[in-house]
Amino acid sequence: MRAWGRAASEAARRRTFAVISHPDAGKSTLTEALALHAHAITSAGAVHGKSGRRGVSSDWMEMEKARGISVTSAVLQFAHRGCVLNLLDTPGHADFSEDTYRVLAAVDCAVMLIDAAKGLEEQTRKLFDVCRHRGIPVITFVNKWDRPGREALELLDEIEREFRLKPAPVTWPVGSAGYLRGLVDVNSPGRMLRYTRAPGGTHEAVEEPIPAEQAAFEEGADWEQATEELQLLQADGAEFDRASFLAGTSTPVFFGAAISNIGVRLLLDAVVDLAPPPGAREVEGGGSRPVDAPFSGLVFKVQANMDPSHRDRIAFLRVCSGVFERGATVTRAASGKPFATKYAHSVFGQDRSMVDTAYPGDVVGLVNATALRVGDTLYDGKPALFPPMPTFAPEHFAVVRPVDIGRSKQFRRGIAQLDEEGVVQVLVSDVRGDQAPVLAAVGPMQFDVVSARMAGEFSAPVRLETLPYRLARATDAAGAEALNRSRLVRGEALTRIRDKALLALFPDRWQTNSFEREFPDARLEPLLAAH
Ligand code: G4P
Repeated sequence: MRAWGRAASEAARRRTFAVISHPDAGKSTLTEALALHAHAITSAGAVHGKSGRRGVSSDWMEMEKARGISVTSAVLQFAHRGCVLNLLDTPGHADFSEDTYRVLAAVDCAVMLIDAAKGLEEQTRKLFDVCRHRGIPVITFVNKWDRPGREALELLDEIEREFRLKPAPVTWPVGSAGYLRGLVDVNSPGRMLRYTRAPGGTHEAVEEPIPAEQAAFEEGADWEQATEELQLLQADGAEFDRASFLAGTSTPVFFGAAISNIGVRLLLDAVVDLAPPPGAREVEGGGSRPVDAPFSGLVFKVQANMDPSHRDRIAFLRVCSGVFERGATVTRAASGKPFATKYAHSVFGQDRSMVDTAYPGDVVGLVNATALRVGDTLYDGKPALFPPMPTFAPEHFAVVRPVDIGRSKQFRRGIAQLDEEGVVQVLVSDVRGDQAPVLAAVGPMQFDVVSARMAGEFSAPVRLETLPYRLARATDAAGAEALNRSRLVRGEALTRIRDKALLALFPDRWQTNSFEREFPDARLEPLLAAH
């Protein structure tokens, strides 16, 4: 593949983003509403009433089978105002896992979706931490304004106080949550946008601009309050500022109701107008690789064997520079070996079709790419290696053992491979030795994947015993020593296999705090996205 001039111009019109939210904030509804406004679908409503989708973790494998690859693949691509938008799914609910975090390594912007009644919630906080760590700019959408919720100013205050993120409202609601009269678009002041929703939210809501005088007459106190609040915010310097948004210290804020398609068009426009296009990417050893350099891409997720009859394995690659062309042979940075891109697919929803060309910001699914691992770089031309994926703070721990001791060779091989693929983190406990490794995961479903793959792929069924820990802290030899001496805490010092870092595990924050009080000199450091 050559460095194509086309790469730069195509990159400039790409917007690659994800929605970060807590389950039930309305991510699926918003995704569908965005697709509707971008005319990628003609009618919404398919995701509403999803009771059948809300499975406990053990349902997940069945779901994957029934739905093909859709549950966890989902990259939605649509066009809007001359731009190509790539919306990457961040699995939530029971399927929250390291993959959810890793998706953020492949986006240039995030939409933080907040439920107007609930404000900032746990999963949003965790995902926001990762955005902050990676320097990903965040656009905020306050959803469900059609039903009772908190005060708009109070929500802004919470964002500023807890995330140290200066909110800059771009739309502002007329009428309190549950009594939405319309929206003010700060960029088109002096009028109110009034919405008439289509029955069932199946189509775009009709948006009607109402001049200020008419809005004042018809909405009275609500209009007055909205304009006063906006003036107050402007006096406080809450205007949108591109530089601080891109630097991750401010966030443009939008209000609406995804279910009625209210405020969604303005959000979609904001993704085009405000979200940054793909840019130069930092590479190992200093420097960066510009988008018009020869092809390079990052594998941010590997989905394996979800369909046992196919032994399917898809590596999701984000194109970072140049032009991806199916059929070309590129280099896998980790091994220096050639890699053929013969089986490249687009990975949009349930449809899988061959993809021939992709540009920076696009995501390609490489089928049966058994050599590829999460964090791998592929490149053409001048070598590139993107920094390794960070490991994320695990919150679920389990000892894993083979059901049949006679198969311990297969067991060890399987566990090593799953570790290498990043399916779970594998730890060696000082207490248990390496015959009974400890698996550490961000979400419990990662354990289900381990069980299924160990039995199906490595013919080594496993038994998992859940451990009562919820918190991991990086520590040092002194910390490990203190932990062994401590009678106060039932903890374990664990050596992580790959980088040999020591981790201390605790059942809860209370135990962590009492340990810190007892051993003030022991180093305990939170890992990324730990709360
Ligand atoms: P998620 O993917 O973030 O988990 O959320 P999802 O879109 O599935 O939405 C969660 C619930 O919130 C759904 O209700 C959905 O209809 C509702 N919802 C989403 N956006 C809005 C909104 O703007 N306003 C209101 N009032 N509700 C919204 P549900 O009870 O699970 O399903 P349903 O029976 O209501 O369809």
